[in-house]
Amino acid sequence: MERRRGIGSPAAAAVVVACAVLMMIPEVSSVRYMVGGGKAWSPNVNYTEWAQGKHFYNGDWLFFVYDRNQQSVLEVNKTNYENCNSNDFLHNYTTGAGRDVVPLNQTRPYYFICGNGFCYGGMKLAINVENLPPPPSSSPVKSNVGVLTYTFRGQIVIPAVFAIAAVWDSFRRVW
Ligand SMILES: *[C@@H]1O[C@H](CO)[C@@H](O)[C@H](O)[C@H]1NC(C)=O
Ligand SMILES: *[C@@H]1O[C@H](CO)[C@@H](O)[C@H](O)[C@H]1NC(C)=O
Ligand SMILES: *[C@@H]1O[C@H](CO)[C@@H](O)[C@H](O)[C@H]1NC(C)=O
Ligand SMILES: *[C@@H]1O[C@H](CO)[C@@H](O)[C@H](O)[C@H]1NC(C)=O
Repeated sequence: MERRRGIGSPAAAAVVVACAVLMMIPEVSSVRYMVGGGKAWSPNVNYTEWAQGKHFYNGDWLFFVYDRNQQSVLEVNKTNYENCNSNDFLHNYTTGAGRDVVPLNQTRPYYFICGNGFCYGGMKLAINVENLPPPPSSSPVKSNVGVLTYTFRGQIVIPAVFAIAAVWDSFRRVW
């Protein structure tokens, strides 16, 4: 009786879930960044500060969400990023829905500005896309902390944390 209850217990189920979730983490390789986090692509956000401390890797994505009636997403070169010149853009990512996805598929700096003069107010983003490093052996979770809320990795990490908490909780009750 005791043994059968042990196998079917919530603790055992939680261990299985936690292991399954943890095993998924190394397979998730690309991150989709919500540009600007909760403030999205809008005026009065300092995108230099938003990008600070983040590592963008080849294969990641940028997700721009904004007011489609006013703003846009243009890729420009460094000079035009600095001068807010939207006339000679390299790529117009504006699709009209106010939700544009940019694949970071090259290892190089990327420069984005908003048209209609919003660039002068700070709606400009410069990032450097790096090659994905080999998976770290020491602390894989640490590198995920910075992008916890708005990324695919974050969405994987959060259930893992809950699963671990559930395991801990069950053990506490069992013991
Ligand atoms: C954005 O933040 C950076 C770093 O804190 C700062 O150097 C820069 O002047 C800020 N830009 C604006 C437009 O406030
Ligand atoms: C960016 O493009 C402009 C032409 O629109 C050119 O004059 C400038 O030299 C370019 N800057 C860089 C860094 O390539
Ligand atoms: C970018 O493309 C959108 C959608 O086709 C268009 O409405 C907009 O005028 C374009 N922006 C520029 C600067 O050409
Ligand atoms: C990268 O993505 C852009 C935008 O979708 C596309 O135009 C370009 O061809 C892609 N480049 C490579 C090397 O896949």
